[in-house]
Amino acid sequence: MCGIVGYIGKKEAYPIILEGLKRLEYRGYDSAGIALYDGENLKLSKTKGKVSDLENKITKDKQLTNGNVGIGHTRWATHGVPNDVNSHPHYSNSGELVIIHNGIIENYASIKKELINRGYTFSSDTDTEVLINLIEDVKKNENVKLGKAVQIALNQVIGAYAIAVFDKNKPDEIVVAKLGSPLAIGVGEDEFFIASDATPFLEYTKKAIYLEDEEMAIVRLKKGVKIRKIKDDSLVAPYIQELQLNLEQIVKGGYDHFMLKEIHEQPEAIKDTYRGRLNVKEGLIRMAGIDDNLERILNANRIIVIACGTSWHAGLVAEYIFEDLARIPVEVEYASEFRYRNPVITEKDVVIAISQSGETADTLAAIKLAKSKGAFVFGVCNVVGSSIARETHAGAYTHAGPEIGVASTKAFTTQITVLTLIALKLAKEKGTISKSVFQHHLQELELIPGKVEKALLQDEHIKTVAETYKDAKNCLYLGRGYNFPVALEGALKLKEISYIHAEGYPAAEMKHGPIALIDEQMPVFVIATKKGHYEKVVSNIQEIKSRKGKIIGIVTEGDEDVKHLADHVIEVPDTIESLTPLLTTIPLQLLSYHIAVMLDKNVDQPRNLAKSVTVE
Ligand code: M6R
Repeated sequence: MCGIVGYIGKKEAYPIILEGLKRLEYRGYDSAGIALYDGENLKLSKTKGKVSDLENKITKDKQLTNGNVGIGHTRWATHGVPNDVNSHPHYSNSGELVIIHNGIIENYASIKKELINRGYTFSSDTDTEVLINLIEDVKKNENVKLGKAVQIALNQVIGAYAIAVFDKNKPDEIVVAKLGSPLAIGVGEDEFFIASDATPFLEYTKKAIYLEDEEMAIVRLKKGVKIRKIKDDSLVAPYIQELQLNLEQIVKGGYDHFMLKEIHEQPEAIKDTYRGRLNVKEGLIRMAGIDDNLERILNANRIIVIACGTSWHAGLVAEYIFEDLARIPVEVEYASEFRYRNPVITEKDVVIAISQSGETADTLAAIKLAKSKGAFVFGVCNVVGSSIARETHAGAYTHAGPEIGVASTKAFTTQITVLTLIALKLAKEKGTISKSVFQHHLQELELIPGKVEKALLQDEHIKTVAETYKDAKNCLYLGRGYNFPVALEGALKLKEISYIHAEGYPAAEMKHGPIALIDEQMPVFVIATKKGHYEKVVSNIQEIKSRKGKIIGIVTEGDEDVKHLADHVIEVPDTIESLTPLLTTIPLQLLSYHIAVMLDKNVDQPRNLAKSVTVE
């Protein structure tokens, strides 16, 4: 969480940093701040609230915004409540050094105690202010330059960080370091950019260096980027990548919200996911990460899926597909539980780690644990070059394009698409499905983008359903089989952006408890597509109806039975059972979106959340 930006060059740093912070606001948005050096003074401005509040404050107070070097931060609070004082950047006691930090310094309390004994004072409750004073202390006591001081200090801390540190006595450089949180350096002509991801510098340069964990860099105006290992001081040759991202991909493009844009991007995103991999004519699926490790994966005793949030829901869908088609036993685990429960993992296990951002701290830690026990780890990530993509043995990108809305939408459907391709490929290799079933799946998968487009056409109707239920205090989401994870995902979408309490359940589990909640106030969203336990779900609907619950059925086009029972129905096109989640999830995303808009919630930046959860 938290977004960091920095600039050093010939341009005015302020507009670059400000715009960069706006692009990184998905990472945290409870306070923001900027430090600028104008050749003489180091000026700092920060405030509780969003980047726009910071901008207003700077304009209102007529603060100077000149300077060719600076750093900025948008925060998701960990240590200390969101307020002006706890906002970053933080000065050192001398006022000469300034820092921005994304991550957590776990042993900050003991370091703080020592520093206080040595006469340091602290104005904030943050771990970051402790780190900058530790750096200052090392710099003075050891009589070393900033880079060395940062290195020595970081060898004393436990935790995670992406930091940028500036020393007003050394204004031609910014020192950065990374462990567990992402950090990219944009390399321009006589200028450098620092950011949590590449979006803040896309219009200036397409050349980027992604720091690896336990690396630090001195970014120096005339001399370029010097990278070292934090632990042993060894030099690392910078690897400059050419970015494939475009500016258009990270703007709203006429939509009111990123979430809505990303919902509507799904037909193209799904196509991009299978493009070059799915060949219906030749009856082939090509995936380099699978092809190159086929034996290992086919001989797995079981597959363990690890993920968090929406990605975990995609993992649950994968459990159905892998077991159903490829007959490989699958377990799906919350990464946060897996990493701490001493799981039994052997060299015969294959772990699939799913993550949109590729930076989720729990998933990353779970991967490291699985690797240490000898498992083969395969990543399914969206963000190219992310920590998880690099940490896994092999993988497949979802190619969904940047997802900026905090609520995951296209990441979910593209993850399911990748996982379906893998399951089909393994099923074919193992011979657990016939040629004709395999071919039928390929044909149906190729039709999915068109069908998603059709499902999106229900938008106006969905808006009227949203209007009817927007004031509900609680909602239930029910589904069976492949659509049980979709029920969980539908409930999560509603919770996170509209703050309405919602629960997802397997439809048949309802009678073991949740049915007690049902009365005339309770909207129940039931996924009741023709393929997949249809009659049984209809019986569940009857049970809700007889207890006066309000029923909103997500049904297959042309369905008549549920229409007679439900208060509302939303139709999706027909497809084979294993692919229904790619369609049934669409109306649930739109419903949550419209309800949140009607309730005047901040759809793209819901309270308390951040896009990538880089802390435990
Ligand atoms: O980047 P990841 O896929 O690893 O993120 C996992 C979750 O934090 C994420 O899916 C979260 O649940 C979303 N906000 C849900 O919309």
